[in-house]
Amino acid sequence: MSRVALVTGASSGIGAATARLLAARGMRVGVNYLTSAEAAEDVVAGIKAAGGEAMAVRADVRETAAVESMVERVGSVWGGVDVLVHNALTPYTIKPFQDMTWDELGGKLDDELRAAFVVTKAVLPAMTEQRWGRLVYLGTGLSRRPRAGMIALGTAKAALTQFARYLAQELGPQGITVNVVEPGPVTDTKISQVLDDEQKRRQVAATPIGRLARPDDVARAVAFFAAEDNTFMTGTTAAVNGGMAMD
Ligand SMILES: NC(=O)c1ccc[n+]([C@@H]2O[C@H](COP(=O)([O-])OP(=O)(O)OC[C@H]3O[C@@H](n4cnc5c(N)ncnc54)[C@H](OP(=O)(O)O)[C@@H]3O)[C@@H](O)[C@H]2O)c1
Repeated sequence: MSRVALVTGASSGIGAATARLLAARGMRVGVNYLTSAEAAEDVVAGIKAAGGEAMAVRADVRETAAVESMVERVGSVWGGVDVLVHNALTPYTIKPFQDMTWDELGGKLDDELRAAFVVTKAVLPAMTEQRWGRLVYLGTGLSRRPRAGMIALGTAKAALTQFARYLAQELGPQGITVNVVEPGPVTDTKISQVLDDEQKRRQVAATPIGRLARPDDVARAVAFFAAEDNTFMTGTTAAVNGGMAMD
């Protein structure tokens, strides 16, 4: 029986590309979204047209009841979630620390960790029962290397990465791997539309591979961690940045 994956924030960008790729590799995929129902249905239609199985499932990933009922819905059709890709990008403020309020910084920290907590709690019972699971979280290179104005996102994602490491330690004995994929700048996403051409040119110039990542580049790394192939990597972070930064 093919694995069941749930991809949060799969109505656009990296999440949509990941949903398509996991489905192409034989998984049944829950395509989570919050506001973009039509876009999520387009992702599902594309997967089905290619011979895959998918369903669009709406839930605000910060809300326990909504997430639990989403996971129940997926479970009632396909059985428990085997693979969670937590990718949804909750809103955040871009500004210098000196202009930032606690509500802006603390609000992003709360949203980021609450969403990760809620979706993880909801999928874990089925994974622990079967003693197999894959948890993949989308981080960002900004959690290691600061960029002007990105303190809220970078700090929240750094916390998410450490959260994932603690999960990896606790859940390893139960057959569950936990990894973080850390993209650099990715084209064809909502944030990429706010960068001007000069900023993009500078980013490409700093990238040895000579272009920015596309959502598919990131999806391939996620798909590795989500698959049976990943037998022994857990608690890791994978940079998908074309060599823009090397640790
Ligand atoms: N783009 C980049 O350059 C880049 C770089 C590094 C890391 N990343 C990480 O990669 C991930 C995906 O980024 P992206 O740029 O591909 O995102 P994106 O294109 O902005 O899409 C965001 C997705 O998150 C969903 N979403 C937002 N709030 C939600 C909520 N409360 N509940 C459920 N879904 C919600 C949106 O759904 P609706 O539209 O339906 O509301 C949408 O599907 C993020 O975790 C991001 O931090 C991105």
